Amino acid sequence: MTAAEEFLGKDIAELDTPALLVDLDAFEANMRLLAGCCREHGIAWRPHSKAHKSPQVARLQLEAGACGITCAKLSEAELMAAHGIGDILIANQVVAPAKLARLAVLQQRARVLVTLDNPSVVPLMGRAAVAAGTAIPVLIEVDIGMNRCGVLPGGPVLELARAICATPGLDFRGLMGYEGHVLELQPPQAKVEACHRALSLLIEGRDLLQRHGIPVEIISAGGTGSFRITAAYPGITEIQAGGGIFMDAMYRHTCFVEDFHYALTILATITSRHAGHVIVDAGFKTMSAYHYPPQPLGREDLKLRYLSAEHGVFDILSGPGPRVGERLRFIVGYSDSTNCLHDRFLGIRRGKVELVWEILGRGLLT
Ligand SMILES: Cc1ncc(COP(=O)(O)O)c(C=O)c1O
Repeated sequence: MTAAEEFLGKDIAELDTPALLVDLDAFEANMRLLAGCCREHGIAWRPHSKAHKSPQVARLQLEAGACGITCAKLSEAELMAAHGIGDILIANQVVAPAKLARLAVLQQRARVLVTLDNPSVVPLMGRAAVAAGTAIPVLIEVDIGMNRCGVLPGGPVLELARAICATPGLDFRGLMGYEGHVLELQPPQAKVEACHRALSLLIEGRDLLQRHGIPVEIISAGGTGSFRITAAYPGITEIQAGGGIFMDAMYRHTCFVEDFHYALTILATITSRHAGHVIVDAGFKTMSAYHYPPQPLGREDLKLRYLSAEHGVFDILSGPGPRVGERLRFIVGYSDSTNCLHDRFLGIRRGKVELVWEILGRGLLT
């Protein structure tokens, strides 16, 4: 029996715990919303796949209108290309010669754009492409205020673009930035203004390059925490917002994103009960409190005290609390740091498992 056959058609009540569930109606509505927002603004949707790491989910995103997908790691891009995804952006720096060789060879299977933020990588990447007989399409990553990766705006962007354009094997395609530093800003107008300031740096970069005769085809930015603002910003050609397909408590409570439905839950069982607290069979190897704690669904009486490896400890805030053997669902705190703990998503509709998506990219970190 395949893993899928083991689960398909089962009622939620029959599932062993813990399990990672996706409410398919909510998931599909979330995808339609993201794809529709991009369509409305005449831009492309290239969702980040780091939240699902699953070629099956990527395929559904393409069917919903995505132009391709975004990956965080080369090995994820290799997996996606091996499963027929033909247009991929690695929104990260790839610098080691062994990886550059893999990236160059991968171009034979799919168009794999990569970001670059350091002039020292340019000749290495070019040589890898020439050795493989391919060309590597490159976006310059610009630091638009997050202070993580990215070359500084202005002169350094021009200098790097010139170096890329002058290097055989490299194909300069545009600019990328991630406005991760604005996601939690409040009030909403402050977030909009900070996001606009960040994105303006990409557009100024584009104008600078074009004034120097360097064509800029792609301007990529955007995440779930800012997708509406970024999609509407003039000049952006594609957005990377991805995790919104699942929605989680972090997006809702720290990024103030109201648009999506919660689609992702952990199903768990109460295994032990004490004065004032209960234990579930889902600790930090099953769910994550990184960025935001998991939320007991429909249980205002429970609050996370802590997660140890295989025990989730919840305080009973009021009333008798759940009994041993009772099954609860938890809204995922942060989808990225939770999904990578699991082998598969179980897609649920009308209380039954309708689809099983393997998380084949789990553990792919290189
Ligand atoms: C480079 C990059 N792009 C986009 C995103 C947004 O991803 P998501 O929409 O899944 O939150 C992130 C989030 O960390 C990121 O690092």
